[in-house]
Amino acid sequence: MSRVLTILGTRPEIIKLSPLIPLLETQFEHILVHSGQHYSYEVDAIFFEELSLPAPRYTLGVGSAQHGEQTARILSRLEPILLQERPDLVLVQGDTNTTMAGALCAAKLGFPVAHLEAGGRSFNRTMPEELNRIIVDHIAEILLAADEIAAYNLRAEGLPESRIHVIGSTAIDAALHHRERAAQRPILNQLELKPGSYLVLTLHRAENTEPAVLPGIIQALNELAATHRIVFPIHPRTAAALERQQLQLSPRILALRPLGYLDTLCLVQSAQAVLTDSGGLQEEAAVLGTPILLVRNETEWRYLVDAGVAVLIGNRYESILDGAARWLSPAGLDRLRSARSPIISGAAGRAVAIMAASV
Ligand code: UD1
Repeated sequence: MSRVLTILGTRPEIIKLSPLIPLLETQFEHILVHSGQHYSYEVDAIFFEELSLPAPRYTLGVGSAQHGEQTARILSRLEPILLQERPDLVLVQGDTNTTMAGALCAAKLGFPVAHLEAGGRSFNRTMPEELNRIIVDHIAEILLAADEIAAYNLRAEGLPESRIHVIGSTAIDAALHHRERAAQRPILNQLELKPGSYLVLTLHRAENTEPAVLPGIIQALNELAATHRIVFPIHPRTAAALERQQLQLSPRILALRPLGYLDTLCLVQSAQAVLTDSGGLQEEAAVLGTPILLVRNETEWRYLVDAGVAVLIGNRYESILDGAARWLSPAGLDRLRSARSPIISGAAGRAVAIMAASV
């Protein structure tokens, strides 16, 4: 039986790999490695529980650190495992430091790499994620692109057609699979929220938590909170930045600890709209038919903007308030709600079939 080693380490990797892992477990001898980049229960273990995933065979325990240190720890701790396990294929997902270090370690040892979510580009090279994606795509043998735009980006960088496969998005598979279970969650009652009466906000990107940017975002959100109920599950990076920069959230913003996957889907499903800089949350909101306002200047999920279900409102004080005034108006929301995005399921099955054919 062929051996596939999957390395993951953060919340979005766990969620987006969750539809694949059960298939990998049945079709291959599957070795799951967790880098430990995310380690708190609420951004890590809760997802293994909710998504019924097997415990990793190896945990590297790298924790938080500067990019270089975090990457180096993953490289040095993964190398002996790869040399011992000698997989036929190494699978990585997305754009995190775990993704990049996992792919680099494998490729340097001569183990072929498959990259799930290949070809996503923001064209903003100041984002750590953008550098990670470019590096991984150029050293991977199998490029599993979510859509034609991603495949186009890979071709434009000179990557050979034979490596590129358009398979759809596993974030969509996961959301479709879990949405009914999520709808049963009691979180709306617990938070005393009425369906359609609130916005869900998430922020975590490095560029949005910098001292030059975060104060403007928070000022805009505090003003928006005068007229809108905002529910804000706060990522650990953002919580730390708010404290460090001594920024106060309006008491009208409902600030929460990070939520599990099912509670997040449940809240998004009944929200008026989401305001976010997250990639996965955009796709989940699209599956659930909830309008998406992106607190960013660019997006790797261009297909959602092209389809008209998501709009970029920028990350500056004025642009956020202008975007909110335009898109949270009844006419703006109607326009976003009446647009349809292509929701293509089955990405996980296609990915595993392509991997099986390669080993
Ligand atoms: C990482 C990814 C990003 C992904 C995001 C999802 C990189 C470069 N970025 O960003 O692409 O969208 O995960 O969450 O890999 N922390 C905790 N508990 C944890 C994990 C982190 O408190 O379990 C805190 C630490 O103080 C740390 C900070 O969060 O310094 C940021 O964590 P880090 O691993 O650097 O990346 P994320 O911002 O989560």
